[in-house]
Amino acid sequence: MATYAFLQGKFVPLEEAKLSVMTHAFLYGTAVFEGIRAYWSDEDNQLYIFRAKEHYERLANSCKIMRMSKKYSVMEMVELTRELLKLNSKKSNAYIRPVIYKSSTIVGVKLAGLEDDFLLFATEMGDYLDLQKGLKARVSSWRHVADNAIPMRCKVNGAYANAALIKTEALDDGYDEAIVLTEDGHVSEGSAENIFIVRNNTLVTPPETEDILGGITRDTIITLAKEELDIPVEIRRIDRTELYIADEVFFCGTGAQIAPVTLIDHRVVGDGSIGPVTQKLQGLYFKVVRGQLKAYKDWCTPVF
Ligand SMILES: Cc1ncc(COP(=O)(O)O)c(C=O)c1O
Repeated sequence: MATYAFLQGKFVPLEEAKLSVMTHAFLYGTAVFEGIRAYWSDEDNQLYIFRAKEHYERLANSCKIMRMSKKYSVMEMVELTRELLKLNSKKSNAYIRPVIYKSSTIVGVKLAGLEDDFLLFATEMGDYLDLQKGLKARVSSWRHVADNAIPMRCKVNGAYANAALIKTEALDDGYDEAIVLTEDGHVSEGSAENIFIVRNNTLVTPPETEDILGGITRDTIITLAKEELDIPVEIRRIDRTELYIADEVFFCGTGAQIAPVTLIDHRVVGDGSIGPVTQKLQGLYFKVVRGQLKAYKDWCTPVF
């Protein structure tokens, strides 16, 4: 069964989806993207794209910041994503990567006066981070790019060179992930995930003004904690040393899902096991993404 991509206005077999070496986005990282998951539900015999609309709304905001024009409306991009997954006709989980990119083939750093295009492909992705073992994390020696350097609020491809430095250092040093601080030393997020800590039965996560990507999973968790689990949520600055005395810590993101952290900078988090708040949220999250909770079914776009 062929796998398709959407490129230059049409669906083509993935192996034919090629761009010129002179594409501006390749030369300078001038592209914005999303990572979206679709989950297969055996129960409903259906593939659900999770929070597709919110992902494309964020992509539209990224375009504004990076002075890109989008060829398709949010709902048209949702529809193209459904069409792609239908064409690929796989009855299994998928990871979807839409990209809006500076498509002009030209040398010269700028944003204005260039052409933009939209591409889309889907691939398989298992668990990006381990969900069960409890991750080992370090505080990165790299700082996070700041809003007035490369804004993390928009998911710009070029910013992921920072993420790659952060992640590679962590892996080289024997950790699974890294926690990145802002320029002024407060907790920002993981290399490609948001972060929550639990202190005194309260979930705490940094605000969007701490150079984080305003994560859709983060928003899902905040909603589920408040509405379904009656767990208070504080959105506030987090000091580095709060990581060391937290009862629970976890990363979250479309790729990461909800990934518990049990060791940070050689300090055991809580009692070293996966805490009850993290466990409850994980359980609920995997039901919600498969359309099993009626109240959140409109977050799930059926493909077939
Ligand atoms: C830097 C960064 N922060 C946070 C996230 C989590 O965002 P979301 O939950 O919308 O996937 C991601 C992943 O997409 C990311 O790349």
